[in-house]
Amino acid sequence: MMTEGLLTAAYIIASILFILSLGGLSNQETARRGNIYGMLGMLIAILATIFGSQVTNYEVVASTMVFGGLIGTIVAMRVEMTGMPQLVAMLHSFVGLAAVLVGFANFLNPEATTHIEGAEKIIHEVEIYLGVLIGAVTFSGSVIAFGKLQGVIGSKPLLLPGRHFLNLGMLLACIWLVVEFIHPSTFASSILPLGIMTVIALVFGIHMVMAIGGADMPVVVSMLNSYSGWAAAAIGFMLGNDLLIITGALVGSSGAILSYIMCRAMNRNFISVIAGGFGTTSGSAASSGSDDEGKEAVSTTVEETAQLFQDAKSVIIVPGYGMAVAQAQHPVSEITKQLRDKGITVRFGIHPVAGRLPGHMNVLLAEARVPYDIVLEMDEINDDFPETDLVLVIGANDTVNPAAQEDPNSPIAGMPVLEVWKAKTVIVMKRSMASGYAGVGNPLFFKENTRMLFGDAKKSVDAILSNL
Ligand code: TAP
Repeated sequence: MMTEGLLTAAYIIASILFILSLGGLSNQETARRGNIYGMLGMLIAILATIFGSQVTNYEVVASTMVFGGLIGTIVAMRVEMTGMPQLVAMLHSFVGLAAVLVGFANFLNPEATTHIEGAEKIIHEVEIYLGVLIGAVTFSGSVIAFGKLQGVIGSKPLLLPGRHFLNLGMLLACIWLVVEFIHPSTFASSILPLGIMTVIALVFGIHMVMAIGGADMPVVVSMLNSYSGWAAAAIGFMLGNDLLIITGALVGSSGAILSYIMCRAMNRNFISVIAGGFGTTSGSAASSGSDDEGKEAVSTTVEETAQLFQDAKSVIIVPGYGMAVAQAQHPVSEITKQLRDKGITVRFGIHPVAGRLPGHMNVLLAEARVPYDIVLEMDEINDDFPETDLVLVIGANDTVNPAAQEDPNSPIAGMPVLEVWKAKTVIVMKRSMASGYAGVGNPLFFKENTRMLFGDAKKSVDAILSNL
C-alpha cells in the first residue's frame, strides 16, 4: 500500500503529465508526444489510486478493470474514424453516469458524513447535489447525442411549444430541490429531493440535446465533453480527490474553449446553440442537377482533371468528410508528392469543422504522411484562393458553401467558409449532387469555374493518380 506522501507525489506527476499532454495536442508535430504524456499520466493515476489506502478489495477492482478494459479495447479497435464522434459521445455518457452513481453512493454511505457537521456538511451536500445534477445532464444528453450522430434518432431539432419556459421551470425546480435536499421540510428524507432532481436533470439533458439541430452537433459534442469534465471535478470535490478535481477542471475548461472555437468557426453564438433549432431547413437545390435559376452543374472526367493538374502552377486541396468516408487520404498524399516533384505548389486548406470531429482532416493527412507545413488552417489560406490555378475539393460540402456569404437567408449564413470559388478552376469530387451534413444546397456546384467529378473519392483519386 502507498503512503499518503507518495500518493500525493504520484497525483502531482500525473497532473503535470495531463497538462503537458494538452500542450502537446495543440500542435500536429507534438500531438503524438502529447498522447503519450496523457497515457502515462493516466497509468500513474490509476496505479496510484489502486495502491492507495482507499482501495481494499483488489479482486473486484482487478476483475472490473479487465472486463472494462477488454470491452474498451474491442470497441476502440473496431470503430471507424467516421464513427469517432459517436464513440466520444458514448464515453461522455459513462462519465455522467459514473458521477450520478458515485454521488448516490456517497450520499448513502453513512461513513462519508459522520465526521463532518455544520457548514462543512452543507458544502459536502452541495457537492453531491451538483455532481449528480451535472452527471445526469451529461449522461442523458450524451446518450441522445450518440443517437443523433449514429442516425438512430433524427437530426431534426425537436422544438416543443414553450420549451424555454419548460427549461426555466426545470431550473427553478432544481434550485428549490437543493434547499429541500439540505434542509428537508416538504420531504421525509433528503433522498427524495435528490432522486426527483436526478429525474428532472435527465429529462433536461434529453430535452436540451433533442432541441439542437444536426448542424450544431459538433458544438454539442464538445459542450458535453466540457460537462463531463465538470462532472468529474464535482466527484473530485465529493471524494476529496485532488487529481480528479484537476483533471476534471482541465477537461471542463478545454471542452469549453473548444466549444467556443467551434462556435466561432460556424459563426454561432453559444447561447443560441443551447437554445437549439438550428439546422432545420434543408436549402434549395440539395439534390437536383440545376440551381434555382436553372443553371446546370458541369461534370468533368478524370482525364480532364489530370490535365488541369499538369497545367497548374499552384494547387490547393480541400478535404472534407467524404475523403474520410472514402479513405482517400493515401492516394491524395501520393498525388501531392508527384505534383510537388514536378515543381507544382500544393497546399491543403482545412476548415475547423471539416469532417465529423475536431482535427479530423489533420489526423487523416498526418496518417498518410502529408507534410505538416503544407497543411494550413482556413484563416491562413483563405486570401490565397484568387491566386490559385486549381482547387480540388474532395468530399467537402458545407465548409466550401458560398451561400454562407452570398445568401443572407441561408441557414448557414455568416459561417466562415473556405472561399474556393475564387480560384481559377474548382474541381468538386463527390458521388452525387446531395447536400452535406447541414442539409443545405450548395451554389458552388453551379459556378462557371466549377467542374463536378462524380464518383467515390478514393476511386477518382486513384484514377487521377494513374493518369498522372
Ligand atoms: P459535409 O458538408 O458533411 O459533406 C460531405 C460530402 O462528402 C457530402 O456532400 C457527400 O456527397 C460527400 N461524400 C460522402 N461520401 C463520399 C465518398 N465516398 N466519396 C466522395 N464523396 C463523398 O462535409 P464537410 O464539408 O467536411 O463539412 C462538415 C460538416 O459536418 C459541417 O456541416 C460540420 O458542421 C458538420 N460536423 C462537423 C463536426 C466536426 S467537429 N468537424 C462534427 C459533426 C458535424 P455525396 O453523398 O454526393 O457523395
